[in-house]
Amino acid sequence: MLVCVFIYCVLETVDFVAPDDRVMFRTCEREKDRVVFQMGTADPDRALTVARLVEKDVAAVDVNMGCPKEYSTKGGMGAALLSDPDKIEAILKKLVTGVSIPVTCKIRILPSLEETISLVQRIENTGVAAVAVHGRLKDERPRHPVHCDYIRAVARAVSIPVIANGGSLDLVKTNADIEVFRKAAGASSVMLARAAMWNVSVFSSRGPLPVESVMEEYLKYAIRYDNHAFNTKYCLCQMLRDKVESPLGKQLQAAQTNTEIRSVTQERLQARRDALQSGGQEEQLVMDGDVTTMAVKFERSVIFKIINWREYPPHITPKMFLLEWSRKEKVEQPLYQTVQRAQDRGFQSIVTVAKKQYRSSLWEKSKKFAEQAAAIVCLRVLGVPEGRIGEEDSGLVCKRKREGKTNGAVEEEGSKKRHVIDLQREAESAAKGDQTVNASGYSNS
Ligand SMILES: Cc1cc2nc3c(=O)[nH]c(=O)nc-3n(C[C@H](O)[C@H](O)[C@H](O)COP(=O)(O)O)c2cc1C
Repeated sequence: MLVCVFIYCVLETVDFVAPDDRVMFRTCEREKDRVVFQMGTADPDRALTVARLVEKDVAAVDVNMGCPKEYSTKGGMGAALLSDPDKIEAILKKLVTGVSIPVTCKIRILPSLEETISLVQRIENTGVAAVAVHGRLKDERPRHPVHCDYIRAVARAVSIPVIANGGSLDLVKTNADIEVFRKAAGASSVMLARAAMWNVSVFSSRGPLPVESVMEEYLKYAIRYDNHAFNTKYCLCQMLRDKVESPLGKQLQAAQTNTEIRSVTQERLQARRDALQSGGQEEQLVMDGDVTTMAVKFERSVIFKIINWREYPPHITPKMFLLEWSRKEKVEQPLYQTVQRAQDRGFQSIVTVAKKQYRSSLWEKSKKFAEQAAAIVCLRVLGVPEGRIGEEDSGLVCKRKREGKTNGAVEEEGSKKRHVIDLQREAESAAKGDQTVNASGYSNS
């Protein structure tokens, strides 16, 4: 139980501190009208005491009725409340009548639609301002598909706002998908957890930011507000996703303080930026209408031309990485459209991935290279490895392949070889379907 509110003058925060001095909740004036304080509770009186403690510093209070973890359920909190509607009613009524800010709750769906609707109608009658519905059953894991049909039926059955939740893994890849999910669930709005943890710029309609920029920005806030180092590490590792076992991920996990975390992150990100810019190109993201552009070139031997060092190994290409990534993320196969201009017969490609378009602003000598450059832009924006020599291994495309000799001869086991050859074949067959048009129009592949 929180016992003390502490205005921390140095950080300009409001801290809610436990008897052992641990900061249980930290907020600040700037977020006062935006932050919803969520509590896990199984007791109406204690819930009200806590709600009154925070009500001057937050926009609303929410009761967690969806957490399936034992540490919640064994005390009758979280998803355990779902099987005790009387308790739910008592807690919510107490809060609604006892505080001056809106009260909401977050539930999971119940095994039948009828039970779910009847529970939400009971919740509505307590006077709550909204209900968030995580479209999974208590025993379903985050990898299971979300039941949009349940959320839709609930939204139809009540008149309070219903917030749809649970779409991060299979439905919400881009900002535009948020609205698609909202409509599919017939909800008033959408709540995102994992998609926001992976790259919070998913909320920006101006397109995603490279995950490196998000990490740096996040770190500034973590340090500014003296966030707990364990939590900072956790959040940064979530942003790294499948790169969490990379050298940066490993160094991050070993770091103990926010300062150490900052130094390893900045060092690694700077090294990455240096490598990206070693061709003398400024890697700046510019929106050209709906197309995200960057000045990048696909050059096989850009860094050390003299000793014929290749930036990309001969059989690993950014296109392959993008294809593999799109499969892993279960989005449509990348679609390339290429134009050729008259004055120097240069080529430029746009790649469409998850309904977003990416292009290099530089023109290439061949159609193949133009497509690779577009794939690089997309991969860099998404923060996904692109297959360059020396790049942290992502495991997206077989590692042994990458270590193949630069003269093209590759020694590896049959199974792995098949895997990469399959990828190559697919990339080639996709390329065969390509058409190139001259001058103004982009053709589809
Ligand atoms: C690391 C992590 C922490 C979470 N903590 C909470 C929590 O404190 N309260 C809560 O209601 N849900 C919590 N959740 C569940 C999410 O709010 C959400 O219901 C779930 O991840 C499904 O939404 P998504 O598909 O957008 O991720 C947490 C999820 C994750 C991954």
